[in-house]
Amino acid sequence: FVLQKKNNRGVNKLEQKKGVKITIVGTGVVGASAAFAIMSSGLASDLVLVDINKEKAEGEAMDLGDAAAFIKPINIFAGTYEDGKDSNIIIFTAGANQKPGETRLDLLHKNVAILKESLPQLLKHSPDSIYLMVSNPVDVLTYVSLKISGLPTNRVFGSGTVLDTSRFKAELSEYCGVDPRNIHAYIVGEHGDSEVALWSTASVAGMGMEQFSILKGLEPVDRQEIAKRVRTAAYEIIRRKGATYYAIALSIKRICEAILRDENSILTVSGLVNGIYGIQDVCLSLPCIVNGSGRDKVLAVPMSVEEEDALRNSAQILKQAIQQAGF
Ligand code: NAD
Ligand code: LAC
Repeated sequence: FVLQKKNNRGVNKLEQKKGVKITIVGTGVVGASAAFAIMSSGLASDLVLVDINKEKAEGEAMDLGDAAAFIKPINIFAGTYEDGKDSNIIIFTAGANQKPGETRLDLLHKNVAILKESLPQLLKHSPDSIYLMVSNPVDVLTYVSLKISGLPTNRVFGSGTVLDTSRFKAELSEYCGVDPRNIHAYIVGEHGDSEVALWSTASVAGMGMEQFSILKGLEPVDRQEIAKRVRTAAYEIIRRKGATYYAIALSIKRICEAILRDENSILTVSGLVNGIYGIQDVCLSLPCIVNGSGRDKVLAVPMSVEEEDALRNSAQILKQAIQQAGF
């Protein structure tokens, strides 16, 4: 990418630089925690923090920068959209979060307005970047970003249910008494109240959940209770501490890692779904292959009839929200 630097006479010069540049827009608790996770990971050489509250971005950059002696070299600074020029990845976390009792869809109008103001400025300087949406309602914001940008669907996608899938794995890990990394299970659909737990393909050591329960002599798994705990996790956290940020920060870092290391990882990111499961023209999460191209392929995984119905219901809810947003 091209780095803009001032020489000692204050004249701008452009310098070609090899490395990985990530820009985070919005340095509230989510953006700042994501910056910390990315900085700690050593994935990036340059991290640009952009916030309408410049002082907040500056403070975060200064605080993170003080860790210099303990991490791989990284240039972290608070900057403008222009400073984000030619980033490999732009992470969008700007906007309002939920107050206790609010749903993600309640944030629709506020955050779509912020996105409409911000995205054209980002696109002007970074037309070739991968755009990772995080602000809520993330599926709707992903759809709006696709429409505004006209970029291909592999380069504009959302964190979707990557976080919910981790929550699901954590619950199943506790039930099974097995490392969460050895659980294969997905949450799909809306990142929100209509999300769908895919029980029919959940597996541990190649066995379905029922088979595993019998093998280990466990009480049958309470599907409804576990799905409810996953679905309401954010509400429970927001009620207690006002916001969620650590697990989403690591979800963001995980998605960036899959992109930057070209990993072909299967992650439930949110993106355009058009023509599978009878769903047309909406953004939601499904297991996808994520690699250097971004959200490279959507996997139309097998589902039970009930799961497919629930997924279509989720798509319908998101479609209505997209229409309410005027798209
Ligand atoms: P926050 O209030 O702490 O931070 C939001 C930041 O956005 C603030 O620093 C604010 O100054 C900045 N901002 C507002 N307008 C801006 C603009 N036009 N340009 C640049 N910056 C702007 O909120 P938070 O808790 O960090 O949450 C941010 C978003 O992330 C919310 O929408 C929240 O719902 C969402 N979120 C999503 C997930 C997920 O899984 N997708 C998880 C957690 C939070
Ligand atoms: C989450 C946010 C609030 O933690 O979307 O799920």
